[in-house]
Amino acid sequence: MDRIRIRGGKILNGDIQISGAKNAALPLMIASLLTGKTLTLRNVPRLADVNLLLRILRNHGVDMTVDGKRAGEDGSLGETIHLSAATIADTTAPYELVSRMRASFWVLGPLLARCGEAKVSLPGGCAIGTRPVDLHLMALEQLGGKIDIEAGYVVAKAPNGLKGNRVVFPKVSVGATHNALMASTLAKGETIIENAAQEPEIGDVAACLVKMGAKISGIGSSTLHVEGVDELKGADHSVLADRIETGTYAMAAAITGGEVTLKGARADHLDSMIAALRQAGVRIDVTQSAMRISRNGNRLYPINIETMPYPGFPTDLQAQMMALMTMADGVSTIRETIFENRFMHVQELARLGAEISLSGDTAHVKGVHKLTGAQVMATDLRASVSLVIAALAAEGETVLHRVYHLDRGFERLEAKLQGCGASVERLAAA
Ligand code: EPU
Repeated sequence: MDRIRIRGGKILNGDIQISGAKNAALPLMIASLLTGKTLTLRNVPRLADVNLLLRILRNHGVDMTVDGKRAGEDGSLGETIHLSAATIADTTAPYELVSRMRASFWVLGPLLARCGEAKVSLPGGCAIGTRPVDLHLMALEQLGGKIDIEAGYVVAKAPNGLKGNRVVFPKVSVGATHNALMASTLAKGETIIENAAQEPEIGDVAACLVKMGAKISGIGSSTLHVEGVDELKGADHSVLADRIETGTYAMAAAITGGEVTLKGARADHLDSMIAALRQAGVRIDVTQSAMRISRNGNRLYPINIETMPYPGFPTDLQAQMMALMTMADGVSTIRETIFENRFMHVQELARLGAEISLSGDTAHVKGVHKLTGAQVMATDLRASVSLVIAALAAEGETVLHRVYHLDRGFERLEAKLQGCGASVERLAAA
């Protein structure tokens, strides 16, 4: 397995181009199942999760082509993919594929809505928590789906099509909102989705569905109104900028000091993180198409944050913020309210010299004056990148093992950091 070696202590200066958002690209690709026409997606990040989802979609019968390089392109702006599900050849998403990526479970709603049946493996637990799917199933049942669980599979049927209804989520779920929204575009009549997740990635998918002919209002709010249509058409859509990647590089720049411009960043999707970083003493200048992060020798102040559904502080930036706070002047409190087991980075950060104590869902991070390089292990996507952030500030050499976690969600991570002066290199598996 590949490893990444980081020699810490280099100040970051330069520009980083922000990629398309993984968590928008995946549901956008799944939306191709809703139509027989071609969906063109631009700015799709080159990620292991994207490749795995392409395999899953191919298994359902989706044809795909990827544009080659065009004159003047340097490969920094993602790929253009054309997806065409003229006929759905197979409505089963098998365990071998779904168990490797939870988001693939989201094919359930679109397949059921378009084909009247779907059989999708239960995704199972994962490193950050149990992650049930009860809300997905509840929503599809409310839209008239008949759901059974058989031998580890969700078997869903709606032979006469789905019917619009009021879907009230008792708890905010990004994935269940995606599933309900996509399914309801082809349901008969009106669907109202209440307590919907408001993450910008849902807005991006909704905007694409509208281009495909869906009738959706309330986009960006917690109540979505959908008037079902008989069929959707093709569309051309560019994936929005990744706010989690943006936040990650903002924290990398903040921990090393220096000045980094995040090109293409959507600061308007990061209010809670920007407020937290400013409170910590980091300077952030926002322009229409970029964010500049700078810290020039001044101290880092401790902060208190709690993860919350959007527009609250994102759970997907919790580990990175914790890494930054290991170097603050004082004690920070970080509470994780979304996933019950999303603190696996704590032990690994401790290997670099961080002082963190855990009590239930809360971590107390006592800032230290220096971190020291060590061998560390990636446990999940965001946890691994928090170790990269800490390693950039640590004295000496850090080697990060199990890099495949990073490759699931960060496009050209080493190249982007190297471009700002970091000493980061991939050591290929022996
Ligand atoms: N939940 C339920 N029942 C359900 C669904 C969710 O109880 O049927 C619970 C979960 O266990 C969790 C909470 O609701 O405690 C929120 O989970 P949500 O459904 O919102 O998460 P998700 O859709 O599975 C997406 C992102 C995650 C991100 C979360 C929260 C994608 C592909 N995944 O997951 O991203 O952490 O929303 O914002 O969009 C990542 O990119 O590293 C990642 C884990």
